[in-house]
Amino acid sequence: MDLTRQFALPQGLGGRVIGALMAVMNAAQVKETVRAVAPKADEHVLEIGFGPGIGLVALATSAPGLQVAGVDPSATMVAAAGRRTRRFADRVQLHEGTAAALPFPDATFDAVCATNSVQLWRPRAESLAEVLRVLKPGGRLVLSILERAVLPDGGSAGPHFDEDLRPDLEAAGYADLQLHWRPSKLGRALSVTATRPL
Ligand SMILES: C[S@@+](CC[C@H](N)C(=O)[O-])C[C@H]1O[C@@H](n2cnc3c(N)ncnc32)[C@H](O)[C@@H]1O
Repeated sequence: MDLTRQFALPQGLGGRVIGALMAVMNAAQVKETVRAVAPKADEHVLEIGFGPGIGLVALATSAPGLQVAGVDPSATMVAAAGRRTRRFADRVQLHEGTAAALPFPDATFDAVCATNSVQLWRPRAESLAEVLRVLKPGGRLVLSILERAVLPDGGSAGPHFDEDLRPDLEAAGYADLQLHWRPSKLGRALSVTATRPL
């Protein structure tokens, strides 16, 4: 099994095993991302690259009436997360797709979040612009990326991923940018918050 590829795009039986591993390993980080989103009742929140679906469950249980959408290109993860979120089927909608082509109208979401996923988005600039498009004016973007998070063709996000990501966020038009490295059980994680300008 090519582990890097399975973390980047989990597929088949191997992908299900990696998904189960991520559900345990990354749970604390994913829940921290959801806390940073701070969802409010009746908001509409999108998670991109949800993997096994821990974040979708955390979102659905975080605020009454919250509408949750998820996009992930892995059919294996869409199936796994669908099983995990079955009890919230009236409020959680899952889509197979990538950050570069989101199947939603402009200004749909109050917040968009992603954990260990933005480093995989290709092309990144267009994907960040696409996320901005589906955020409402004033809407929040929350990202978290482990320093060791896998890249699509091997290697990891690395210790300078903040310097790599910031210019793309600025060029896409995000405001109120905050990027901070924090310690985590799995090594350092980069926390990013930003907003769509009003
Ligand atoms: C390393 S896993 C992280 C899963 C989960 N968020 C976590 O932290 O445990 C990366 C996820 O991003 C998804 N992904 C890969 N390329 C993507 C893209 N271009 N747009 C959106 N999601 C992508 C993968 O299918 C996978 O589910």
